Amino acid sequence: MTAGIAFVMVGLPARGKSFIARKIARYLSWLGHETRVFNVGAYRRDTLGSQQRHPFFDPTNEAGNEARREVAMRALDDMLAWMSGGGEIGIYDATDSTRERRTLVRQRLEAAGRQVVFIESICDDPAIIETNIRETKARSPDYAGMDEAEAMLDFRARIQHYASAYETLEDTEGSFIKIIDVGKTMVIHGIDGYVAGRVVFFLMNVHIQPRSIWITRHGESEFNVEGRIGGDAPLSKDGVAYAASLARLAREKIRKPLVWTSTLRRTVETAERIGLAHRPWKALDEIDAGVCDGMTYEEIARSMPQEYAARAADKFRYRYPRGESYQDVIQRLQPVIFELEREREPVLLIGHQAVIRALYAYMMDQPPEACPKIPVPLHTAIKLTPTAYGCDEVRFPLPPAPLDAEGFRER
Ligand code: F6P
Repeated sequence: MTAGIAFVMVGLPARGKSFIARKIARYLSWLGHETRVFNVGAYRRDTLGSQQRHPFFDPTNEAGNEARREVAMRALDDMLAWMSGGGEIGIYDATDSTRERRTLVRQRLEAAGRQVVFIESICDDPAIIETNIRETKARSPDYAGMDEAEAMLDFRARIQHYASAYETLEDTEGSFIKIIDVGKTMVIHGIDGYVAGRVVFFLMNVHIQPRSIWITRHGESEFNVEGRIGGDAPLSKDGVAYAASLARLAREKIRKPLVWTSTLRRTVETAERIGLAHRPWKALDEIDAGVCDGMTYEEIARSMPQEYAARAADKFRYRYPRGESYQDVIQRLQPVIFELEREREPVLLIGHQAVIRALYAYMMDQPPEACPKIPVPLHTAIKLTPTAYGCDEVRFPLPPAPLDAEGFRER
């Protein structure tokens, strides 16, 4: 447990602050940190309604200033209360565009014993700003029912109001990360501690170029047929047929994918059928079942009933003797996540049940504890496409349908 870190966003509207805030929250939650985003825009809409037009944001509008200050402080109060109640990492998502406001926010957080790290997003590329306005702002509840062109005009005027009073972060303001032009340049100042360091590294890899990530388990293996876990068995006859189906899908639907596998035979053999170069990752190997490797679940229940019961009681935290837990798997997958974030080409990742569950939980922003129960059947390719604030999913069950635990065809 950390003592409590507050990341405080800084930047003009439409600079991707909420995108960054949510991405960091997803990553840190996945790593097991209690993390929450406090979005001041949402507080403003809740308190004052969503129909505020641009003059409300004019810094010379005293009543507007006061109302905005009030909602900003309400969000900060809630974040402080949440952190006092055990919340580990709070992300304060507001413009915080003046030194005066940032000083106030920082003093209150530091008085409560929290470490403060500002994250400023600076972007002057008109194309990126316009896309951001069109894709997120003009469709926000602030402009519900309004014509898109009119909404965009109003939003541009709102940005101008903030720009007229904007002050960039200075070295005297403590720890910060400045992200300039969506990561082309980054300025790191006074960063200290493990979590803040991970966030810097994470942000260095994030980009906003659209692309899809395809994940699948290997084709059925001889061990799957026997119901044995772990091991390094070759593909079964059906597994070979799935590899051919996957090769067809890759040809038809994925433009020149980078193919990643584990170092185990069943993923490598599946990839070989695709006929593209593949990169084996040790970090993608299946959960290590330790002393249970090569056994069936029934054999474990019979010969090690205590181990079996302990896993059933807490499958996420349970570590096989001399093996791993799901929690361990998540930790070792970090380099894969960074590389997935960094990569701009489509990736086809051929992995194993536990590993695919952990990666899926990250992509789909599911709580890590949910990992062990996420359904990831054999012979199903999953297409994941990151969107502005989430991820779209399409599943492609491919022939031959896999056998279920009782030996029946699943479909
Ligand atoms: O059964 C296939 C397999 O990949 C095993 O090698 C692995 O131990 C298991 O799935 C992980 O799934 P679970 O956590 O549900 O046992």
